[in-house]
Amino acid sequence: MKNSREQWGSRLGFILAASGSAVGLGNIWKYPHMAGQNGGAAFTVVYLLCILIVGLPILLGELAIGRKTQLSPVGAFNKLSNLSNWKWVGFLGVASAFVILSFYGVVGGWTLKYTLFALSGGFNSLSGSPDLSSQIFTEFIGSSFQPIFWQLIFMSFCMGIIIKGVKSGIEGGAKIMMPLILIILGLLVFKGLSLEGGKKGLEFLFKPKFSDLNPSSIVMALGHAFFTLSLGMGTMITYGSYLDEKQNLFTSAIWIILLDTFIAMLAGTAIFTIVFAMGADPSAGAGLIFVVLPTIFPQIGGGAIWGTLFFFILFMAALTSAISILEVITAYFIDEKGWSRNKATLLFGGIISIVGVFCSLSLGEFNIAALLDISFFDFLDELSSKYMLPIGGALTALFILSKWSVKTFLTELLIGVKELKLDKSLLNSILQILLIVSSLVVGLIIINELFDLLFNQSLQKLAGF
Ligand code: PFF
Repeated sequence: MKNSREQWGSRLGFILAASGSAVGLGNIWKYPHMAGQNGGAAFTVVYLLCILIVGLPILLGELAIGRKTQLSPVGAFNKLSNLSNWKWVGFLGVASAFVILSFYGVVGGWTLKYTLFALSGGFNSLSGSPDLSSQIFTEFIGSSFQPIFWQLIFMSFCMGIIIKGVKSGIEGGAKIMMPLILIILGLLVFKGLSLEGGKKGLEFLFKPKFSDLNPSSIVMALGHAFFTLSLGMGTMITYGSYLDEKQNLFTSAIWIILLDTFIAMLAGTAIFTIVFAMGADPSAGAGLIFVVLPTIFPQIGGGAIWGTLFFFILFMAALTSAISILEVITAYFIDEKGWSRNKATLLFGGIISIVGVFCSLSLGEFNIAALLDISFFDFLDELSSKYMLPIGGALTALFILSKWSVKTFLTELLIGVKELKLDKSLLNSILQILLIVSSLVVGLIIINELFDLLFNQSLQKLAGF
């Protein structure tokens, strides 16, 4: 079995695939509007700190667990813990993948629809009319046929890539899509900066205003650090399991974080320079991308092309992330149940598409979560990003601290490192502290969220912030 396991074709291919997983709707859709509503650069500074303090150790942990065991999450935790209950952390990952892809695929479908909408010149009729644009978007996502049609197409792309396997599917796709995303974003930034008044967008994004920062934005920045790096559900364990021992996990993790952060900053720059140049509202929230941008693209020269390019990169970013989510599930059935890749992908890709249909319908007339007072779509989004991913991440950190041991973790990390510039015992202590801080901070946030959910009273409010 072990010898027939697929491996990445090259180090570059792995880094592009892993950063493809990290770079997604989180970077281009979520990050700019979160920054926009939470103090711009002040939010960015906190977000970067979270990435370094909490994201980096857990990313290293997931990659090391995957490479060591050459297995996807359930098998990996099982192997390293001698078949103890830690395997449930792996199962939690598979369940999170199921939940996330169900709604992620729906938004993936929207990106496809908006790419073609822009290409056909449809944004022209929305020029300067946010109300009309908002009405059209709300009607589209709430209708019973169109968004489902696009979601199914998006999911077919996703399954098509996963069926082709690790090297020619996931890696091959990332090698084409990631450079394209970088090039097109670069062009968009160039365009945004060349517009009169665009530079104000830069100030908005990069000049820290700490007075705008509040405790809930800090919690949000931390949650987002998990989501954007695809942590807490075994994606990086799965991708790490296709690595061989020659690879340096430290430098790989740094590359993934740099690319992910760089692309979020580029996306933020492109969006805010255009938004400021056109005098639109930078704090428009989740609708910034699907509602505000379509109204301003027609006002800049070559707007149809820029609009199409923008939504096309959003589509590619969503796709490279969605495949990494589906791969967690597919790899589980291949590793643990001995299924063929085709069977696992088609069956579970199909089931997730069906759950996604209910997600999409919940934004219109048919909401199966109506009793909870939120749409099924929002329910799955909140369940995964507020609870499942942080819990999975904190448990992974705890697993390393209490079961696997930081020493064994470090030994695995150092395989493939040619020259170590830091003292080994110092590195051991740093990793230990970072993992303790990560699990504590994340644990606190989860307790805070649960408190909020159960008693409608968050700890921050109780503490008088
Ligand atoms: N990192 C992706 C994004 O920023 O959109 C989302 C994601 C992908 C989350 C894969 C979790 C995951 F396992």
